[in-house]
Amino acid sequence: MSEHWYKEAVVYCLDVETFADSNGDGIGDIQGLIGRLDYLARLGITCLWLAPIHPTPGRDDGYDATDFYGIDARIGTLGDFAELLHQASNRGIRVMIDLVVNHTSDEHPWFQSARSSPDSPYRDWFVWSAEEPPDRHQGMVFPGEQRETWSYDSTAELWYYHRFYDFQPDLNFANPAVREEIKKIMAFWIQLGVSGFRMDAVPFIIELTEPGKNPSPMDFEFLTDLRRHLQWRRGDAVLLAEANVEADKLVDYFADAGGSNNRLHMLFDFMLNGRLVLALARRDPEPVMEAIRATPALPPGGQWATFLRNHDEIDLSRLTTEQREQVFAEFGPDESMHLYDRGIRRRLAPMLGGDRRRLELAYSLQFTLRGTPVIRYGEEIGMGEDLSLPGRNAIRTPMQWSPSPHGGFTNADKPVRPVISGGDFGYEKVNVTAQRHDKGSLLAWFERMIRTLRESPEVGAGDCKPIDQKLPAGVLAHRADGSSGSMLFLHNLGDSDTVVDLGALFAEANDPNEVFGDRDYPPVGRLDALELGGYGYRWIRLRRSAGP
Ligand code: NOJ
Ligand code: CA
Repeated sequence: MSEHWYKEAVVYCLDVETFADSNGDGIGDIQGLIGRLDYLARLGITCLWLAPIHPTPGRDDGYDATDFYGIDARIGTLGDFAELLHQASNRGIRVMIDLVVNHTSDEHPWFQSARSSPDSPYRDWFVWSAEEPPDRHQGMVFPGEQRETWSYDSTAELWYYHRFYDFQPDLNFANPAVREEIKKIMAFWIQLGVSGFRMDAVPFIIELTEPGKNPSPMDFEFLTDLRRHLQWRRGDAVLLAEANVEADKLVDYFADAGGSNNRLHMLFDFMLNGRLVLALARRDPEPVMEAIRATPALPPGGQWATFLRNHDEIDLSRLTTEQREQVFAEFGPDESMHLYDRGIRRRLAPMLGGDRRRLELAYSLQFTLRGTPVIRYGEEIGMGEDLSLPGRNAIRTPMQWSPSPHGGFTNADKPVRPVISGGDFGYEKVNVTAQRHDKGSLLAWFERMIRTLRESPEVGAGDCKPIDQKLPAGVLAHRADGSSGSMLFLHNLGDSDTVVDLGALFAEANDPNEVFGDRDYPPVGRLDALELGGYGYRWIRLRRSAGP
């Protein structure tokens, strides 16, 4: 049995504000979430990742905090949060929170103090320049919404650095006091009982920015230091980081030159995300194989976190222009679906035209490829997007619980964001209650799929690799081997039925049998004539280990 819970976890990410409103003010809250923990337990997820929960003016959906030690009053209190941790743990569910410490909100008291006077104890907590930096218009993360990375502050009479929006001044990590404060913030939430952090914008945290200096030096040792601190305070706590960087830079985030995993435990696999979407668009598994070949081997302990959709746009910037155009043509045919010239602001179900076969295929593939699967709220029922909302809000609409007004999210007249209504993806058609009553629903499928995955720990904890042999067009075959045994997975990204010969694997198999699939297939036999439908998938247990 693996000792590492995060390798066998199924992570569910949600924003408390849009999940469930318990007190009728239109805003989702912690008590509302507590009331839905049984739903999540039944779904089979094992870990929650909560989008930022801190007090915030909400100009970047909470990624602009004014107090890293507090809970936004609109969603509850620290007491509610402690209760959530207790209730989640009663159901075997861990809780991770977003740690967004690259920057603060410009309304954070630290920044307000820092700008007010050169003598402020917080002056040196932010990144300033007396002169207008020559690279002021470089390095923007949100092209079209952000014009510069250095803005002039007329109170301080200085320029300040902000990698993201101008209301998100970057903290100065060259200052040891800032580093100590971040450790204190982590220790605080660990002490309350969280199981770890989803760390926002890690490459920018370790970047030691100076005006005009491009690229800036990167201090990876700070990650080693954070890890040491975290692990001393809680041995099984985990860091899951957002670091969307080039393939040759990835390993540095996991390990130092010695090669042991002494930095971050997990990184989101952005490389796979873009290629997976391309593979679905082309109905060809080659981009997935390419992503697997291109991503480096990880040190023991290191783990990928896979995802299809998150709360941001699908970032296609690592694809070639031609590949990106192909994805746009297939999944984002309208200009209004694009964002920042590089991404798609849609949910997966409408991207795949609501085609149940392709949705199952996509999620089956994500959940069985190496790494820990992360799924965003609402994907399990096939929610859609609202393109009339600005930017990324299109995919941040409230959870659709029932056919009641506002999808049962709230009984207020005005929800925090409109619930999607009407059409194929409106709450009237797509909601938890309806799918709960339907054994053939997507929700029921997700429950079965997640339960089956949890019986197959070799996927997350073992060694997962593609099977290198000639296969019919459109087919990806991969296997997972671990201390619990071996599994074989077949996925047909194409739409025509086919037959796959994997007879070479039969010799090592022990009573192979299918544990999950898109339909009832004939028995697997000697694995030499495995039928596979268009957009079909099959999970085959090759053998169990002789272990306990
Ligand atoms: C990455 C987050 O995923 C995104 O939503 C946010 O806007 C930026 N970091 C800034 O915090
Ligand atoms: Ca509320």
